[in-house]
Amino acid sequence: MSQEFDVVVIGAGPGGYIAAIRAAQLGFKTACIDAYKGPDGQPALGGTCLNVGCIPSKALLQSSEHFHALNHGFAEHGINVKGASFDPAQMVARKDGIVQKLTAGVAFLFKKNKIANLHGLGSLKGRADEKWQIEVRDGDKVETVSASHVIVATGSRPRPLPGVEIDNKTVLDNTGALAMAATPKRLGVIGAGVIGLEMGSVWARLGSEVTILEALPTFLGAADAQIAREALRTLTKDTGLNIQTGVKIGNIKTGKTVTVEYEKDGKSESLTVDKLIVAIGRVPNTDGLGAEAVNLQVDERGFIVVDDSCHTNLPNVWAIGDVVRGPMLAHKAMEEGVAVAERIAGQKPHVDFGSIPWVIYTSPEIAWVGKTEEQLKAAGIAYKKGTAPFAPNGRALGMGQAQGTVKILADAETDRILGMHVIGPMASELVTEGVLSLEFKAASEDIARIVHAHPSLSEVVHEAALACDKRALHG
Ligand code: FAD
Ligand code: NAI
Repeated sequence: MSQEFDVVVIGAGPGGYIAAIRAAQLGFKTACIDAYKGPDGQPALGGTCLNVGCIPSKALLQSSEHFHALNHGFAEHGINVKGASFDPAQMVARKDGIVQKLTAGVAFLFKKNKIANLHGLGSLKGRADEKWQIEVRDGDKVETVSASHVIVATGSRPRPLPGVEIDNKTVLDNTGALAMAATPKRLGVIGAGVIGLEMGSVWARLGSEVTILEALPTFLGAADAQIAREALRTLTKDTGLNIQTGVKIGNIKTGKTVTVEYEKDGKSESLTVDKLIVAIGRVPNTDGLGAEAVNLQVDERGFIVVDDSCHTNLPNVWAIGDVVRGPMLAHKAMEEGVAVAERIAGQKPHVDFGSIPWVIYTSPEIAWVGKTEEQLKAAGIAYKKGTAPFAPNGRALGMGQAQGTVKILADAETDRILGMHVIGPMASELVTEGVLSLEFKAASEDIARIVHAHPSLSEVVHEAALACDKRALHG
């Protein structure tokens, strides 16, 4: 007899595992099916984010930042370290330890919440008596479970570059880029997006000569242009990334090294590197899901089609996270997971796409929420702006990281905050004040009149709010 559940979640990434936990909290008998196996061949929960995405990349970024500070930042504190060495294998082992801890943590949470943890590829087989039949296949082992509701959270995978084979030895995707056990002398990256900049930064700080080839003529087109310009300057000058925009990739020849032929400004160029990372975006993952068999609607780019509440075209089938429209971010996937579980329970939750923060964990970090200046101009919205630099901030100077800017954009008439853009230390944390401002419909004057701790980085946000009304105190 097949096991029966109220809710079956397919995929245990941040979208899926959070949806399963919330469903269980709400009293549903819940199962989560996941197919991923770690490098040791054992099932590992947590999806892309925990295994080969957010978490391992931030662990490596931190290690490389420490090494860089040791060599370039400590002397000004009067700390002299001679002969400092660096062991990439230990750095990768530390990262693997963090991943293991967190993936085991998800398994623990499943147990604690009495969620059935089913390993294998989940596919929809059909619906009978208002119950969906889902097959779980792990090699030769096949079982079928049934559920009243199905939440599809199958995530995404790297977008392939036609004609280029990823072997994760010389030509790498995110999985390979996070597992290099030695610093390549020359590293090439195709795509100056989030992965390219974060991974490029790691290896540049550890001594690689990094060249990034980007198809678009503009750098970080999704960010506010002023912040993107500042980012390009610091990433080039301080991190040492060689970023080439407006290139057209041609032939890629692989052997012991990799040679990328490309065109830039009408001229043929070539780049030879020891390793090449390909990071040109990600595509939704519906492989093996059985979408066609049950007529689950998928759009021309492969995303599962959902309405505003993440419901698909099929009764009681929901989809969340990277496999549906919207930003491919872990926190977006998690919030959708919570919202869907609550909707199944008859609640009326809401995920506000207008206040989802973006963070790029380079050094300095880049983070934003809400509208950019360019978007406001294009929409014909009259706005005022306040900018404040980190340069005079006492805390930032003490940290030795007094680089960057906070920019706040507010409606010219109502003063309501429409966007916050930060490049600087701990931008990932500071942007939360912008998220709250947007959610609580705060005015720049609200932020300007709130007491911010001294000395703290958040004082730069305060100054930017004051600057919206031309009354910055340190500007
Ligand atoms: P996923 O995390 O992709 O999980 C889907 C899971 O479903 C996987 O385990 C997969 O194996 C499994 N699966 C797929 N099909 C089936 C099936 N048929 N049956 C069973 N299981 C199946 N986002 C951030 O917000 N912050 C960051 O700092 C960040 N850093 C990143 C760094 C890198 C290098 C990468 C690649 C991504 C990063 N992201 C980051 C993006 C983030 O990882 C994704 O947005 C997030 O993981 C999406 O969650 P998800 O639950 O939708 O899918
Ligand atoms: P991306 O969409 O951020 O960037 C891809 C870049 O590659 C773009 O700039 C694009 O113009 C360029 N490109 C596309 N085709 C190209 C080609 N043929 N030649 C040269 N350049 C080309 O995608 P990326 O970096 O692969 O990351 C995927 C997603 O993962 C991100 O969009 C983001 O959603 C998520 N992510 C989030 C992180 C975070 O939140 N800190 C960190 C890493 C990834």
